Amino acid sequence: MDKRLDPKKLPQHLAVIMDGNGRWAKQRMLRRIVGHQKGVETVRVIVEECSRLGIGYLTLFAFSAENWLRPKAEVKALMTLLKQYIRAETGRMMQNDIRFNVIGNRGDLPPDIDREIQSTIDKTSGNKGMLLTLALSYGSRQEMVSAARKLATEAAAGRLDPASIDERAFGASLFTVGIPDPDLLIRTSGEMRISNFLLWQLAYAELYFTDVNWPDFDREELMRAFRDFQSRERRFGMTSEQLGQLPA
Ligand code: IPE
Ligand code: IPE
Ligand code: MG
Repeated sequence: MDKRLDPKKLPQHLAVIMDGNGRWAKQRMLRRIVGHQKGVETVRVIVEECSRLGIGYLTLFAFSAENWLRPKAEVKALMTLLKQYIRAETGRMMQNDIRFNVIGNRGDLPPDIDREIQSTIDKTSGNKGMLLTLALSYGSRQEMVSAARKLATEAAAGRLDPASIDERAFGASLFTVGIPDPDLLIRTSGEMRISNFLLWQLAYAELYFTDVNWPDFDREELMRAFRDFQSRERRFGMTSEQLGQLPA
């Protein structure tokens, strides 16, 4: 591990908006899909490194609910890559004790991919290491609307007292139930926006933006982000002085 990193102060949950595959390819006069292929290699490296470092939860934004609006050929190529990735990586997830998970509207995905996903979730369900979550056909507003609808349905049926709906109950109705909120969000490619990713869950996450495109993001860039994260003071609304008085 990087000597400038404190192993005790790594994020428990890292979330990543993997962006810039298309621009990476365009800069090299290549097709966008080549950028996505290269991006998959980065996923392998970063998943392996996070698991080695003992990160508890890694959540990767791989395909948004809005990405269905892209040209058909690109969507198709992305789905093919996704299937290949899941199939090829299941063995490595087993070796690294990684548990696989997906958030998003799985019903939108082609059935063969959904089956592949379920098979990997089942195979890795007994693993005890890092939880790797892919956000697929994921949109945070859709997720929250669906949570509100679930709670309203329960209340209308008389099974839930509206007064009992609190942050915990709302959070438990999201795809991310059981997963602690992200401590750190990384977005690559220089864009500084959230693009409908984990709006509820990111309430107190530290945000880290880098100009590096996802295919060029590597271990060194990950360490840079972690060093930056370790330099932040997370105050959660309190003052610096108060934090100094809290028991460690
Ligand atoms: C991220 O790269 C991958 C997906 C959104 C699927 P992009 O494809 O968004 O790359 P840019 O932003 O066009 O460069
Ligand atoms: C966000 O990237 C979604 C993923 C990384 C999967 P986009 O490239 O789709 O985001 P916008 O459209 O630039 O905000
Ligand atoms: Mg993009």
